[in-house]
Amino acid sequence: MAISHIDHIGIAVSSLEKVKPFYEEGLGIRVEEVEELPQKHLKVAFIPVGDTRIELLEPTSEASTVHQFIQKRGEGIHHIAFHVDDIEASIAQLKEMGYRLLSEVPEEGAGGTKIVFLHPKSGFGVLIELVEGEGH
Ligand code: CO
Repeated sequence: MAISHIDHIGIAVSSLEKVKPFYEEGLGIRVEEVEELPQKHLKVAFIPVGDTRIELLEPTSEASTVHQFIQKRGEGIHHIAFHVDDIEASIAQLKEMGYRLLSEVPEEGAGGTKIVFLHPKSGFGVLIELVEGEGH
């Protein structure tokens, strides 16, 4: 598997509106784009930081897994996403090695990327996402 860089770090927030001033005014980094992912019950904001990005995830309904995450663990770091060049090959390799994935085939991520999540048990407590494509 060829991982070139960390694509983004996903952070669960209750309200993008409340969090935005901290990143924009406090840290001085700009929210680039906000995207709605209705099928995932999420509103997503990307903040570019060099080669990587911060992805702020706000649940838009209680059906969102991010809503459940915030209920259980509070706001904070939700996942780390590695950029891969061939997601199908990465999935096949991980399955072959006995690691658990949350889906068998890539899903559509923000900005038309292809994504897959590893089961947090396989990531030793860290939810790992793999991303193919540039997104934004
Ligand atoms: Co992500």
